[in-house]
Amino acid sequence: MAGNRTFSMIKPHAVADNHVGGILKLIEEGGFRIVALKKLHLTGAQAGKFYEVHSERPFYGELCEMMSEGPIIAFILEKENAVADFRKLIGATDPAEAEAGTVRSIYAKSKAENAVHGSDSDENAALESAFFFSALERF
Ligand code: CMP
Repeated sequence: MAGNRTFSMIKPHAVADNHVGGILKLIEEGGFRIVALKKLHLTGAQAGKFYEVHSERPFYGELCEMMSEGPIIAFILEKENAVADFRKLIGATDPAEAEAGTVRSIYAKSKAENAVHGSDSDENAALESAFFFSALERF
């Protein structure tokens, strides 16, 4: 059965460009409830740990650098079928392929600077949420 929570981050370029409110508005209007949320600046090592699964990929270095260049917004979201529905709301990784109206079609700049992260499975949603939030920070 699909879970009802997912994890997301607004990436540094979108925070720096003042798109936090616009992105959260689309997410809330999409039917998601914010369970937890914080702003923080990842170190390169922390970004590397979060994206460890991509460590063999050619873009890993660029990804870690980009994710630690400024503050991010990390949050947990709740909705029925959260992981799949959120990935639909944000659109394809590559903004050139993202459907019109999706978060990435509006706010992404490139495949790397693609505005937001969204978990790809219930298992990763749980792991990624635990990377940033304790049980006491979830409501
Ligand atoms: P995200 O959903 O956070 O998950 C992995 C990230 O790696 C992805 O979004 C992009 O920011 C980045 N990424 C994926 N593919 C590429 C690529 N081909 N070139 C550069 N960055 C990429």
